[in-house]
Amino acid sequence: MNTLVVYESMWGNTKAVAEAVARGVGEGVTLVGVAEAPTPVPEGIDLLVVGGPTHAFSLTRASTRRDAIAKGAAANPAAPGIREWLEQLPTSSHLNIATFDTRVGSVRHLPGSAAKAAGKEVRHHHLGRLVETMSFYVNDMSGPLLDGEAERAHAWGQSLAGMRAAHGQGPTQLGGSDQR
Ligand SMILES: Cc1cc2nc3c(=O)[nH]c(=O)nc-3n(C[C@H](O)[C@H](O)[C@H](O)COP(=O)(O)O)c2cc1C
Repeated sequence: MNTLVVYESMWGNTKAVAEAVARGVGEGVTLVGVAEAPTPVPEGIDLLVVGGPTHAFSLTRASTRRDAIAKGAAANPAAPGIREWLEQLPTSSHLNIATFDTRVGSVRHLPGSAAKAAGKEVRHHHLGRLVETMSFYVNDMSGPLLDGEAERAHAWGQSLAGMRAAHGQGPTQLGGSDQR
C-alpha cells in the first residue's frame, strides 16, 4: 500500500503541510512537488493526497500564481499548478484521493477552498474515490502556518494511513470534509 503526496506552494506553507502529512502517513509514502509529479499516477499507489494554496476561493491559476510572485513569492512562474496536473490524470475507479489546501485563517468563514475545488475536479472527471478534503490555516498571504497546524497535518496523515490500514484496500468513502 503506497501513498503519493503531491503539493503546490508559493511561499512554502502548503509544502510544510505536505511534509507533515507525509510524515504522518509514514511507511510507503512519496512526497513530490507538482512540477515533478508523474502522470499518470504510478501503478501501486492506492492513496493520492494532493494539496495547494487557495487562490481567489479556488485552485490557483497562472494569473493568480503570477500575482503571488509579484507579491514576493519565490516560486517558478512556469511551473504548473494542481489544477493543471489534475487535468492530465486519466480516470480511475480504484485510486483513493484526499485533497487539502492552505487558506488564511482570519477569513475562514469564506466558502472558497482549493481542497474543495480539487475535490470537484476529482468527482467531475472521475479521477478516483474522494475520501476527504481538509483545510489548514495560515496567518497571512505569505504565512506562517497558524500554531498547531503542522501538528494537525501530521495527525491527518496518520488518520489517512489508519483508515487505509483498517479497510485493507483503501479508505472507505467518507465523502465528507472537515474544515474548521
Ligand atoms: C492571488 C492570491 C489569492 C488568494 N486568495 C485567497 C482566498 O481566496 N482565500 C484565502 O483564504 N486565501 C487566499 N490567498 C492566500 C493563500 O491561501 C496563501 O497565500 C497560501 O495559503 C499560502 O500558502 P503557500 O505558501 O503554500 O503558497 C490568496 C493568495 C494569493 C497570492
